[in-house]
Amino acid sequence: MTLIKTLKQWQESENNVTPERIYLNRRKFMTKSGVFAASAVGGMLAANKLLLAADGTPLKKLPHQKTQYNPGEELTTEQAITSYNNFYEFGTNKTDPAKNAHRLTIEPWKVKVMGLTEAPGVYDIDDLIDYNNLEERIYRLRCVEAWSMVIPWVGVSLASVLEKLKPLSTAKYVRFQTKLDTEEMPWTLTQGLDFPYVEGLRMDEALNPLSFMAVGLYGKELPKQNGAPMRLVVPWKYGFKSIKSIVSIEFTDQKPLTTWEKSAPHEYGFYANVNPNVDHPRWRQGKERRIGEFRRRETLMFNGYEEEVAHMYKDMDLTKFY
Ligand code: MTE
Repeated sequence: MTLIKTLKQWQESENNVTPERIYLNRRKFMTKSGVFAASAVGGMLAANKLLLAADGTPLKKLPHQKTQYNPGEELTTEQAITSYNNFYEFGTNKTDPAKNAHRLTIEPWKVKVMGLTEAPGVYDIDDLIDYNNLEERIYRLRCVEAWSMVIPWVGVSLASVLEKLKPLSTAKYVRFQTKLDTEEMPWTLTQGLDFPYVEGLRMDEALNPLSFMAVGLYGKELPKQNGAPMRLVVPWKYGFKSIKSIVSIEFTDQKPLTTWEKSAPHEYGFYANVNPNVDHPRWRQGKERRIGEFRRRETLMFNGYEEEVAHMYKDMDLTKFY
């Protein structure tokens, strides 16, 4: 018998796990701490297990379990994931969100739940996310613009969130909406998209085990530019389906009209499943540029998640645009 335990790759070291009592106070602590004075950051890091984001922002560490969701591909660097973003509410250039999203207020964070549900109301994020049962999932993210990343998200299954909200059996779709605050997001006033940003999924897609509600990445809270404090991750669909900074969840029997579909219906469909055989009018979809790599690689059907999701689309002609 040996006292030295060998950790499997998916097991978190005990040293890394924040005691639950600190953890339960997570939101309160973040509210009180406010803006961090540079000199205080070191002490806070030690006392409260804060880590620095790639851009120097202090973010709280999120204890989590590692899981089997791992494509076994090299991770995109944290630096790239947090500095090359699409978050049009904070500007249209890839580097704008990292510069501007600090304006987003995320404390407190309330989510309005409505439509075909037994439990409508306004929920605090802590009522929706079980912070004591977070898991890490490493997923490919494939943007319709033909670039891709491999991201270690931290969060919970979307099904675990939706089950708490008791949708009625008549609910066929779920519609999500991003926060809109024109003072925090003045860019929304001057560019073409119709905000607030809206996305949606069919209920069976939303309840698919792969659908994920992320609250962190690289073991820390989500940086604002990545959609803090909670954003969807739907890895078999183009990245625009993975809506950020969600403030409303509506169950409906009508297919939601999503932001991109509304702005350019011939370019963006509701389903938007990654499909290397159907080109976008401006981007060929057969290949992709993995951020950090030199050579382009083949795009996989359903972004490599065919086994888990193809059954949901067996009645669709996958040579067509949806
Ligand atoms: N959500 C909102 N609210 N606004 C956006 O502009 N962009 C989408 C998606 N979610 C977007 C959004 C697009 S096009 C992509 S590719 C992903 O976010 C990018 O996520 P990332 O910046 O974390 O890589």
